[in-house]
Amino acid sequence: MDKLIVQGGGPLEGRIRVSGAKNAALPILMACLLAEGKVELGNVPRLRDIHTSLKLLEILGCKTSFDGNDVTSDAVALVPEAPYELVKTMRASVLCLGPLLARLREARVALPGGCAIGARPVDLHLKGLEKMGAKFELAEGYINGTCNGGLKGAHITFDFPTVGGTENLLMAASLAEGESILENAAREPEVEDLANFLNAMGAKITGQGTSVIRVEGVKSLKGCSYRVMPDRIEAGTYMCAAAITDGELLIEDCPYQELDAVSYKLREMGVWLEETDEGVLVRRDGPLVGTDVTTQPHPGFPTDMQAQFMVVMCMASGAGTIEEKIFENRFMHVQELARLGADIRLKGRTAMVRGGKPLFGAPVMASDLRASASLVIAGLAAEGKTEISRIYHLDRGYENIEAKLSGVGATIWREKE
Ligand code: EPU
Repeated sequence: MDKLIVQGGGPLEGRIRVSGAKNAALPILMACLLAEGKVELGNVPRLRDIHTSLKLLEILGCKTSFDGNDVTSDAVALVPEAPYELVKTMRASVLCLGPLLARLREARVALPGGCAIGARPVDLHLKGLEKMGAKFELAEGYINGTCNGGLKGAHITFDFPTVGGTENLLMAASLAEGESILENAAREPEVEDLANFLNAMGAKITGQGTSVIRVEGVKSLKGCSYRVMPDRIEAGTYMCAAAITDGELLIEDCPYQELDAVSYKLREMGVWLEETDEGVLVRRDGPLVGTDVTTQPHPGFPTDMQAQFMVVMCMASGAGTIEEKIFENRFMHVQELARLGADIRLKGRTAMVRGGKPLFGAPVMASDLRASASLVIAGLAAEGKTEISRIYHLDRGYENIEAKLSGVGATIWREKE
């Protein structure tokens, strides 16, 4: 296993480029199952979860290639089973359920277990697909789904605007018979990107990016070329890194419009952000001051930025709170940040951060993807050496992070543990 060593203390300065969005690329890859013909995707980040998805597509009967950041997929001979060995390493595998039911009228997909950030059930995915005519039974840890008469369009109102649930239903509805209406749908930009990709394949979807999405089912979808959107969470992570190191970064290919809630909070804390022709410029605009944050479905403050934001709050004067409303257990980074000297108290789903205290390097352990990112940027701000173990989590979501951060002045390297 690898570990990352960060020698902190210096400001980050220069240009840093954002990669394609993991959370857009994953559903888009599963949507390739729907196409008759070859799909070509650009701006696909080279990440562990992407390699896992391609392995899954191969197992499900697609021919794939991955060259640089370009992926091709051709669904030549589909088979309906997604095995536990792959699903357990990546929860997003469950997104093949909707496409398999739509194309094959059957699916056998391992039930993803819980993960470090919460139980994460998929009941809303199943409830929605049932409304479209699918039947499910759970046996030996697998979801066995069938829809003998084919999927039928349905009016579905989600109990909660689930990202994955909306994506699964969007894919299923694209090939269902008749019209589907998804209400209280997730408005995340990655859901919108998936819908745009489906439309490029010939789907008839409107309302993506709002909470009511309409899908007019079509008989078949064809191959197409599509560029995956840039990663807003990676961009937001670099914004936080610039702020806490008192540096200045120009973030290239930054999906700035999708980061309103984050940039609003950063400004409130004393960070200068400016959109230019070449990217988004980020630097401090004076001393950082504490604020309060509550995570919400988009367009609210994203849960995927909560851990990184906590580090900014640690570097700010005064106290602030972070309330986590999406996942019940997404505070694994708190104890690790405490090892660096952070003063954070947890009460239920709220963390109280008393900022303004210096951080000092220490060995810490990554528990999940965004927690890992928070430890890396905390290491950049801490005095001395921070060793982050279990960084395989980081490799799931940040393409070339050491190279990118080294390119803007960070002292960071990887070692074998
Ligand atoms: N939920 C249910 N039942 C369901 C589905 C969701 O109770 O059927 C609950 C979940 O347990 C959770 C909440 O609803 O408490 C939100 O879950 P959602 O379905 O919206 O999230 P997801 O699709 O599992 C995606 C991202 C996550 C991101 C969340 C929220 C992907 C592959 N994953 O997960 O990304 O945090 O949306 O924005 O798109 C990450 O990248 O680090 C990451 C965890």
